[in-house]
Amino acid sequence: MTKPRLVMTRRFRPAVEQRAARDYDVVLNPDDRVLSPQDLVAACMNADAVMACHSELFGADVIRALGPRLKIIANHSVGTDHVDLAAAAAAGITVTNTPDVLSDATAEIAMLCMLGAARRGAEGDALVRSGQWNFWSPDFMVGRQVTGKRFGILGMGRVGQVAAERARGFGMQVHYHNRRRLPAHLEKGAVFHDSLESLLSVSDVLSLHCPATPGNDGIINARTLAMLPDRAIVVNTARGMLIDEDALVQALQSGRLFAAGLDVFRTEPGGNPALAALPNVFLLPHIGSATEETRDAMGFRALDNLDAFFAGREPSDRVA
Ligand code: DGY
Repeated sequence: MTKPRLVMTRRFRPAVEQRAARDYDVVLNPDDRVLSPQDLVAACMNADAVMACHSELFGADVIRALGPRLKIIANHSVGTDHVDLAAAAAAGITVTNTPDVLSDATAEIAMLCMLGAARRGAEGDALVRSGQWNFWSPDFMVGRQVTGKRFGILGMGRVGQVAAERARGFGMQVHYHNRRRLPAHLEKGAVFHDSLESLLSVSDVLSLHCPATPGNDGIINARTLAMLPDRAIVVNTARGMLIDEDALVQALQSGRLFAAGLDVFRTEPGGNPALAALPNVFLLPHIGSATEETRDAMGFRALDNLDAFFAGREPSDRVA
């Protein structure tokens, strides 16, 4: 039987590529370069399926140009904001994602961002590396302790729920705002806020875990930042577009915010030079899911979705 032809847009983990090669006629991107929209269309022209990451943009124009053979976009990501889902549905293209398997890893990075920001991790690391660490005193590099503080979660989905568990481990009180209140067994004592404003007013640490929908673009901006308690900390491991970065820079520069811990930016790769110039920001290069275990699991989950699709079953993670 002829194997379906599968374009793999990036280099994936070796075990993932090996399994793909067993079951599919695989077209690799040997140089692992980001495919432009034109390259993406050309690569997919004679393919039945594509396994893609958030680095490939499937806007409406790309989707309309994909050609009739392409039947499924299996994303190696939980976020699907890089795919125009309505255009895919209109074109009869199935779209899947990889939920659950990256929740632990991403929540770990949220904790790293929180602690890096609260305890001045970037400043401390830079000081020791520079060879300029020649001083110690009781008031040296004093940060903010998170124990006993309020951890505010915007978006209590899978990642938000694991972040809540981790924050409880640090002795924090968990608060959240979500479109729907969670049942008690998932809420686990977290305090539900029925408005964003109410959540912001109590968040000593605000951690973003909501999807990058058009309605959430810039949801953290000058107006909403002003609602946080004085010297709060902002953590973002979701998507850069959730934050108005100019407003964040201002709030950090003025001292209204104590610090920020950011794994995602409006411009990726690269980040935001104005944020990078500030001492009270802990920065990472979008590595929320970047562990060996998780990247293997994401690849296998994307392949599970493809296998189901080509076996005539409903893929478990279909989003369009
Ligand atoms: C995701 O899965 O959405 C992560 O951000 C990695 O792409």
